[in-house]
Amino acid sequence: MTASAPSAHHEISLAELYDDPYPIYARLRESDPVCWLPAAGRYLVTRHSDVVHLERHPEIFRANEEGSLMTRVMGHTMIRKDGDAHRRERAAAEPALRPRIVKEHWQPLFERNTHQLIDEFVARGSVDLFSDFAGPLAARNLACLLGLPNVAATDLQTWSQAMIDGGGANYGDDHAVWARARAATEAVDAAIDEILPRVRRNPDPSVISCMVHADDPLTLDEIRANVKVIIGGGLNEPRDAILTAAWAVLGDPELRTEVTADPSLWPRVFEEAVRWIAPIGMYPRQVAEPTELAGVRLQPGDKIGVCLGSANRDEAVFSDPDRFDIHRSKTPPHIAFGGGPHFCLGTWAARLSVGRIALPILFDRIPDLALSQDEPVRIGGWVFRGLLTLPVTVPAGTAPHSY
Ligand code: HEM
Repeated sequence: MTASAPSAHHEISLAELYDDPYPIYARLRESDPVCWLPAAGRYLVTRHSDVVHLERHPEIFRANEEGSLMTRVMGHTMIRKDGDAHRRERAAAEPALRPRIVKEHWQPLFERNTHQLIDEFVARGSVDLFSDFAGPLAARNLACLLGLPNVAATDLQTWSQAMIDGGGANYGDDHAVWARARAATEAVDAAIDEILPRVRRNPDPSVISCMVHADDPLTLDEIRANVKVIIGGGLNEPRDAILTAAWAVLGDPELRTEVTADPSLWPRVFEEAVRWIAPIGMYPRQVAEPTELAGVRLQPGDKIGVCLGSANRDEAVFSDPDRFDIHRSKTPPHIAFGGGPHFCLGTWAARLSVGRIALPILFDRIPDLALSQDEPVRIGGWVFRGLLTLPVTVPAGTAPHSY
């Protein structure tokens, strides 16, 4: 194929992508898989095979994007670094999130957090699983993982959202958004400063402790930046995965009967949930040398939007991709956790905390949990996508957990 200049899609707005990107993605995959989106100032890459190609060539498609909003808000984090600089910071945090540590050390804490939150909301009868369960649970689990017992779940959620609003989406340069993001980053720095002397004296399995006690320890600025990216990226995704999965199961009686009869299927529900609505719908890259993708010429400096939300619904890979189906083949896999050097560091914690703990415990303890008939479910987002509300009813008489 001869390489060509890409077509520009002036008709696609960020608001439409926020509301429902999937019909737009389906059109782009079909006829224009690498295209210029003026509204975002970047090329969208929408096919699964092109996303996989791009992740296999980090020397061409670099994470260190110029003018990154995220770097402006959080400082220079591992997720926006390449090569040795990236490897060094990732290696420092990684021991806290290894599968064995997650299972042996974090699992009991995730279980405790899950039971406690269910105890707290069952008494109220009618609840929103976003604000009463998934949000605070993801925050409590993350506070444990990071080693920030001094931070309340409500604060962590507020800071996470403020940093995401600034670093992930403030293309309109809204001053109020910057101000909230700055207040959040100052609060994160203060919480880290408070915890560091204790962790320096008494190492523990947490992310912050691993960064401090690594063979090549991270500097204070590096710790601060990377804790921020984990607060921005390790909270809303597990939250959104819980909500998507719970929504799918609550809305499909056959699926519900199947998974409650065979709880070993819950991890499949989790994987299908993050395929179906990828919590990180788009992330950026920047081209480092002249290249070609799907027949489109790209030049150094070109900015890319890697559309995981689209790749995970690519009909070339997943049959009937808009359908929620837990019995899909595991190969080729979904790419909700990204790929290449930046493959999600929290994958094992997310799989365990959501697929093996939060979902089975929620449905086991409240067998009659039901979608609310009075309030609708709301859903939205492009860069990050998920449910915004999940109103449910809880029958009276759900017993508290015995600890
Ligand atoms: C369902 C849950 C999750 C999903 C779908 C998810 C998705 C992703 C994706 C797509 C990336 C790659 C982004 C890029 O390349 O620019 C990523 C990176 C990352 N994630 Fe997650 N994530 C989840 C949970 C978590 C959790 C719980 C943590 C931490 C406790 C975490 C920590 C990280 C870190 C540190 C990176 C950057 C890794 C690097 O740059 O080397 N994630 N995640």
